[in-house]
Amino acid sequence: MKKFIFENVRIEKAVAEGQCIAHADGKTLFVSHAAPGDLADVHVIKKKKGNLFGKIIQLHEAGPERIEPVCEHFGVCGGCKWQHIGYQNQLAFKAAQVKENFERIGHLDFPEMMPIKGSADSFHYRNKMDFGFTKQRYLLEEEMEVENKGPLEGLGFHVPGKFDKILDIHTCHLMDDPMNQIRRFGKQLAIDMGLSFYDLRNHGGVMRSFIIRNSTLGEWMVIVAFGEPNDGIESYLEQLKNAFPQITSLMYAVNTKKNDTLYDQEIKCFHGKDHILEKIGDLTFKVGPKSFFQTNSRQAEILYQTAKDFAGLSGNELVYDLYTGTGSIALYLANQAKRVVGVEYVEMAIEDARINAEYNQIDNVQFYAGDMKDILNDDFVEYEGRPDVIVTDPPRAGMHPDVVKMLLRLKAPKIVYVSCNPSTQARDLAMMEELYAIEKVQPVDMFPHTHHVENVVLLTLKHAG
Ligand SMILES: C[S@@+](CC[C@H](N)C(=O)[O-])C[C@H]1O[C@@H](n2cnc3c(N)ncnc32)[C@H](O)[C@@H]1O
Repeated sequence: MKKFIFENVRIEKAVAEGQCIAHADGKTLFVSHAAPGDLADVHVIKKKKGNLFGKIIQLHEAGPERIEPVCEHFGVCGGCKWQHIGYQNQLAFKAAQVKENFERIGHLDFPEMMPIKGSADSFHYRNKMDFGFTKQRYLLEEEMEVENKGPLEGLGFHVPGKFDKILDIHTCHLMDDPMNQIRRFGKQLAIDMGLSFYDLRNHGGVMRSFIIRNSTLGEWMVIVAFGEPNDGIESYLEQLKNAFPQITSLMYAVNTKKNDTLYDQEIKCFHGKDHILEKIGDLTFKVGPKSFFQTNSRQAEILYQTAKDFAGLSGNELVYDLYTGTGSIALYLANQAKRVVGVEYVEMAIEDARINAEYNQIDNVQFYAGDMKDILNDDFVEYEGRPDVIVTDPPRAGMHPDVVKMLLRLKAPKIVYVSCNPSTQARDLAMMEELYAIEKVQPVDMFPHTHHVENVVLLTLKHAG
């Protein structure tokens, strides 16, 4: 598309997906990395379904909420789209998004929302980061003209929308250190040892990906994925281990497939344990290299406690925890319920849930693996019993309509709906409105500097008939 620039555009407000909206020449513009109130020249990059998408190329006036982003990679890295907006204002935008979705998509009748619960740590909150190696790092615009570009190898994040481009990261502020030191050391060591960096287009190269996990208990796991076997692997891992005594679990895999996922790969333990331990409330979780775990552990406790408070358990209830993942909500609720039944699609997550139930000596939980719309049927309910409380925490797509229909037939007195996408939540709630009243709405921020927001809703049955 031809280079198209709108000059002196006034940015109006923050909308979904971390974009801001503006109008120019009667057209709607979605602008990334903008802040409400900015006056800017906007370069249109894309046109989709009659809408224009662009980025700021010249900022004339900063909006009142704009601040200086902390990160040197802001604007290129896709991770923190809202770092240029103060955290309290980010929270206000997130709460406003929940409200707007409930009003505009769901046309819902709901009480005044509870004030959004922000994350105590707005930086260093993540417990897992995934990085990729590349033999040809992404070059910034200002580097294009420079003759000496320095090393071309990189270790960092995929540039949004570009599968074969990785931005070399110097410092990321989302995880505690020594994350940055471990990653920089891991890159330099590979360069010093002459190990080849991965070629994302033609597939090949020794150094492929690098995953770092940690826990609030101070344990660190590093998983190095190599793209092909190499005699230097053992020495590489040995040197990494010796440089960082904090690493309690050093794992590796040799992944020669075309895609990066390690879920179908054997991940071996080079040093330490094959898991790290993490605590949420009184529970201790074993987190393996393939385990799903909430990425903001401290805020996960706030989320789970909100769900527990909304469930208002007395000890006599049968609770269904739908989309249970590794069973963390089920286990968190178990000490106040008679029994909790968790259902989840991913077999491996259910294995983790069972391991964690045993690890915490919780025996009033039962876990099933399978597709929710197939598993949650009349036979299941007859076998397990009718639930008094249902907690549901579906993926971003929300619940399948058959699952919503089943919930309407089950008529549990209370439903706690935890969602990571208020628009699909609003859609599902609208389908349930005939039978269920929205009693409480509590947004929770798990991911500062991103546009994502979790929202917990308490529903109560209007009439049992
Ligand atoms: C938002 S996560 C819930 C995580 C969990 N409650 C926790 O706090 O850790 C949604 C979960 O739904 C699962 N899932 C997605 N589609 C599903 C389906 N059709 N049937 C059952 N589970 C599904 C995903 O594997 C994922 O674990």
